[in-house]
Amino acid sequence: MRVLVTGAAGFIGSHLVDRLLAEGAEVIGVDDLSSGAPGNLSGARSAGDGAFTFQQANVTTPAMSELIVATKPEVILHLAAQVDVRKSVADPVHDAMVNVIGTLNILKAATESGTRKVTFTSSGGCIYGEPEPSRLPVSEDQVYWPASVPESPYGVSKKVVLEYLRYFELGKGLDYTALALSNVYGPRQEPASEVGLEGQVVAIFSRRMLEGKSCTIYGDGEQTRDFVYVGDVVSAFVASLRQGSGELINIGSGSELSVNELHAKLSELTGNRLEADYSPARPGELRRIVIDPTKAAAVLGWKPSVGLEEGFEQTIESFRSN
Ligand SMILES: NC(=O)c1ccc[n+]([C@@H]2O[C@H](COP(=O)([O-])OP(=O)(O)OC[C@H]3O[C@@H](n4cnc5c(N)ncnc54)[C@H](O)[C@@H]3O)[C@@H](O)[C@H]2O)c1
Repeated sequence: MRVLVTGAAGFIGSHLVDRLLAEGAEVIGVDDLSSGAPGNLSGARSAGDGAFTFQQANVTTPAMSELIVATKPEVILHLAAQVDVRKSVADPVHDAMVNVIGTLNILKAATESGTRKVTFTSSGGCIYGEPEPSRLPVSEDQVYWPASVPESPYGVSKKVVLEYLRYFELGKGLDYTALALSNVYGPRQEPASEVGLEGQVVAIFSRRMLEGKSCTIYGDGEQTRDFVYVGDVVSAFVASLRQGSGELINIGSGSELSVNELHAKLSELTGNRLEADYSPARPGELRRIVIDPTKAAAVLGWKPSVGLEEGFEQTIESFRSN
């Protein structure tokens, strides 16, 4: 199967490329390298049998649509995105340009190239807004509830694309799956800065602890998140090649972990016993979010297989050896 992966040089995208190649797919990787690193694709490049090609391109440009039309991938796994929630608040136009217009560019080209399916990467942490505690873990059918209002332009862009996916399915016959990922962690995750993006807290804490530094917790640390290992997320994308038609599907653990609990667990695994520093909570951060992965089991046959202990150990080990 010929598969085109956007965001291929990024954290999740590069793991996905490696898995697809291992399973015998022909992979066309695309990335503008705005945050992704070419080094993430060194394994893929050395596959050596011509199964992997890479094109540096911006998803918003004609070069992107021309590539799709020229290469006619059977499936497009679309991960490229403006991923920074705070940047989306500062510059919602740029966020929408990449996350909405870039996606539309891909959907339109997909219909022109005879592509069978597009899997879109949505955000389980952002499209549902701040759910009432009684609605946790939040299920996919709540996405259009009146109270499910995203708290950032990033959340809005990851939600409005769902409408375009439905339009292209009904109007143009293009199949889709939208995977709403919770907080993904694992090897190769590169914090954007010392403060980092909220979803990168495992990478930020682990790296600082390994360097013998203390970590900063924003707020009281009792805010909760749903952490899922990158290898499990990759399995969900692979399952979406053939399953999950026309569905929004949560990909998360279904379990809540507070930032204080995360800090304690990573502290134990790294052996760094320094107390955390506490700073005022950052505006716009959710208090509690955990997504319900029941539908993923029913529709994709997907369940997270890597527990937190094992996933954190593998992540720390990879950071240690780098
Ligand atoms: N990491 C998480 O916890 C998480 C959670 C929910 C959803 N997601 C989504 O998963 C996807 C992958 O995220 P990630 O964590 O691997 O981030 P990442 O920043 O490592 O990967 C994104 C990739 O997209 C590329 N890119 C950005 N703008 C582009 C453009 N205009 N044209 C082409 N390429 C472009 C970047 O260079 C980067 O390689 C994104 O769509 C993100 O919104 C991630």
